[in-house]
Amino acid sequence: MKPPTHVAIIMDGNGRWARARSLPRVEGHRAGFEAAREVVRTAAEVGVAFLTLYAFSVENWKRPPKEVSALMALLENFLAEAEPELIANDVRLKAIGRLVDLPAGLRKKIEAVSLRTARGRKLTLSLALSYSGRIEIVTAARQMADEVLRGVLRPAEIDEASFRRHLYTGEDPDPDLLIRTSGEMRLSNFLLWQVSYSEIYFTDVLWPDFRRDAFLRALEEYGRRRRRFGRLEREELE
Ligand code: FPP
Repeated sequence: MKPPTHVAIIMDGNGRWARARSLPRVEGHRAGFEAAREVVRTAAEVGVAFLTLYAFSVENWKRPPKEVSALMALLENFLAEAEPELIANDVRLKAIGRLVDLPAGLRKKIEAVSLRTARGRKLTLSLALSYSGRIEIVTAARQMADEVLRGVLRPAEIDEASFRRHLYTGEDPDPDLLIRTSGEMRLSNFLLWQVSYSEIYFTDVLWPDFRRDAFLRALEEYGRRRRRFGRLEREELE
């Protein structure tokens, strides 16, 4: 089975996983990082070329400061611990979102790991951090308006192809498969432009329990879907 080229994941349910075990929420996030490492490993192994993880939304800044700073610390730790594995697995790390919002230490770490993994060819791992799909679209529109004002872009040149290049995801292909864990069925402002034709897979499994087998099941289900992109199937035309 040919795996999807690009898988995007809304990792949800860390808090509920912790609550079910009478643990503090941060323990749910800690377990969530373990799940993420396993999913990255599996994605590289089966030949997924792009994996985009929704790690922190612009809306997540409204969580209690203690939880936010614990998440930022876990992220920095994740990058430090995962780096050798990323390099060994030929993975390139990228971050998308309003990176200026992040603590300086984390931002520096992201820049350093992105640079040191830039030659990774097997898998591009994009972490969405301080991310908002609406802000991404508005930022692209503002950049293009500015280019028009500077005379380097004509309004007639604004089309889907040029607009897409101004998104954080640039030349990356759109997600073929979007996964959301924990039983919630929402997009939550994730990759709004890019998921126009993605297959969506919802599962009740909470993110910390979403390990290799659960990920492979999602890929199998994707393999059974028939993607039409608004067209008719060949047999329907006959
Ligand atoms: C959702 O759980 C998860 C997040 C807010 C994002 C954090 C994600 C991780 C720690 C996973 C690993 C991340 C990376 C970058 C590899 P929730 O707190 O919303 O859960 P709840 O809905 O059950 O409260």
